[in-house]
Formats: sequence, C-alpha cells, structure tokens
Amino acid sequence: MAFIDWNDNFLIGIRECDIQHKKLVNMFNALHEAIRLNIEKKAIEEALYSLVKYFDEHFKLEEELMEKGGYPEVEEHKEEHKNFKEKLNNMLQSYQEKGNITLREMLKFFKNWWINHILIMDKKYGIFLKK
Ligand SMILES: [Fe+2]
Ligand SMILES: [Fe+2]
Repeated sequence: MAFIDWNDNFLIGIRECDIQHKKLVNMFNALHEAIRLNIEKKAIEEALYSLVKYFDEHFKLEEELMEKGGYPEVEEHKEEHKNFKEKLNNMLQSYQEKGNITLREMLKFFKNWWINHILIMDKKYGIFLKK
C-alpha cells in the first residue's frame, strides 16, 4: 500500500488541477519510499524541497483560476494556503535547526492537511468553476 493511494474521490473536475494533484500524490509516495528505504539524506531533502516548491506552483495556479473565475471564497482559500505554508515553513525550520521533528512526522502532517484540503476546499471551488 502506498503512502497515499490515489482515489477518484480526489478528483475536483478541473483538469489542470487534477493532473497536479496526481503528480503531488506521486511525489509524496516517492518521498515516503525514499525515507522508508533510508536513502542518502541529501537526496531525501532534495525530494522534500521539490515537493514544497511544487506545492507553491500548485497553489498559485489554483489561486489564479479562482480569481479569473470570480470564485467568491477565493480570499478564504488563499488564507488557508498561506496558513499551511507558514506552518510548513516552521516545521522545516524546526527540522533543520533543532532536529526536534522527524521527516516522517512532517510528511504525515503534510499529507493529512492536504487530503482534507482537497476533499473540502478544492472540491468546493471545483464545483463552482465547472458551472
Ligand atoms: Fe489543490
Ligand atoms: Fe487549494
């Protein structure tokens, strides 16, 4: 069983976003596997930073689409992305500077937040933009 099993329930109906969500699932799984296999720390950290970077790109795309489509809850959605990024940055900092959080813990937090976010907030704008 993968760290995140893709499930069609994750589809929000906006093609570009669904493609990115699938790519994020694959990146999560690859990173989780790399941690499990205990490969070189540097390679794991690189995979982690590419995931974080791709999240940034993904959030940007969603925010642009919501703005263009006149989605009324765009500000709340943006706020949620922003809060998540802040929390994640704090965790990354704790990991790097204090070492008081493990990669696994960080990944678990990351995954739980994100799945919840897709199923609630992303689906909501998907329904609106599809109209
Ligand atoms: Fe998303
Ligand atoms: Fe989102």
